[in-house]
Amino acid sequence: MSSAPSLFEPVQLGAILAPNRILMAPLTRCRAYPGNVPGPLNAEYYRQRASAGLIVSEATSVSPRGFGYPNTPGIFTAEQVAGWKLVTDAVHAAGGRMLLQLWHVGRISHPSYQPNGEAPVAPSAIAPHGKIFTGTEMADYTVPRALGIGEIPGIIAEYVHGARLAKEAGFDGVEVHNANGYLLDQFLRDGTNQRTDAYGGSAKNRARLTLEVTEAVAGVWGAERVGIRFSPGGVFNDMRDSNPLETFGHVLRELDRMNLAYAHVTRVTAQDLAHGAKDGVNPRELRPSYRGRIVSAGGFTRESAERALAEGWADAIAFGTSFLANPDLPERLRRNAPLNVADSATFYASGPKGYTDYPTMAG
Ligand SMILES: Cc1cc2nc3c(=O)[nH]c(=O)nc-3n(C[C@H](O)[C@H](O)[C@H](O)COP(=O)(O)O)c2cc1C
Repeated sequence: MSSAPSLFEPVQLGAILAPNRILMAPLTRCRAYPGNVPGPLNAEYYRQRASAGLIVSEATSVSPRGFGYPNTPGIFTAEQVAGWKLVTDAVHAAGGRMLLQLWHVGRISHPSYQPNGEAPVAPSAIAPHGKIFTGTEMADYTVPRALGIGEIPGIIAEYVHGARLAKEAGFDGVEVHNANGYLLDQFLRDGTNQRTDAYGGSAKNRARLTLEVTEAVAGVWGAERVGIRFSPGGVFNDMRDSNPLETFGHVLRELDRMNLAYAHVTRVTAQDLAHGAKDGVNPRELRPSYRGRIVSAGGFTRESAERALAEGWADAIAFGTSFLANPDLPERLRRNAPLNVADSATFYASGPKGYTDYPTMAG
């Protein structure tokens, strides 16, 4: 007899009781309405997926300077709060729970997305390699402007404002987006942070903004309703770190003292390997640094998710593409039913196709 927790058993994530351990991973879908405002179509999409143990929303910008993709939602205006309220009401009416993922893209932007066509902001003036879709064309990334140390309190204040508005919008909590090469990840890893002030240099200094933002957001919500996401093995958005075990081990040990709802730590995926990830650190190796709940994500199946729970390095698993394509994913996994295949051509398209029209087993 194994005593391993089942994917279909509840798990307490801070103040949130998830009725199963199959979470919906945050998924950018580029279908917000004008003004970066969620609307009825988005509410329907999330409502369909309310059987998740917990939904983490698509990345949502806390700042007009935090955008780098077309038609993504924000959380800094009253209209955005009203739009998100439609979503949280629909999810709650369907019996679900939902966190908002707080986002700032930092250098993964372009002057065409920025107020007054200014340069995007970042820890250091280092342009990412590659190209960005501006909404009309593919363009080279530009060199970002390094934030002055006097601007850091303003960045933290934007996260706090987003966290407050998320509360008004009826969420059950928030997830700080520290993954995938966006602003906080840019500060944390030494490939993108070459600052010489208190926010650069040692792992301790590079983790400072992450810890200050998380603490400030926990001041709004209570730590037990705040999660945080990392991608320690990810190279997406031209990311690297010279010692990921030290960098991520340090930040997780510091966060462990805060008693957050969970740390969400993605594992190295086949896609990361295809993009050149060689020696990224995995949640399994980071488990000794964090005693709280760990959520993992990255190419999981029912079998590999159950193995991760049995091996004790994850307490719940977030599913991305399979939740995108299967609104009733928990029930399908429970029955070992076949899964709909996700259509990548409609990941970032517009309208209901490939968004709200994936069938359930019953449908
Ligand atoms: C279409 C798409 C959009 C995504 N958007 C986000 C996002 O907004 N925030 C985030 O942290 N990760 C995002 N991710 C990463 C997923 O949350 C997840 O970690 C990844 O897809 C691996 O899990 P999977 O193999 O189950 O899909 C996105 C992935 C996809 C495919």
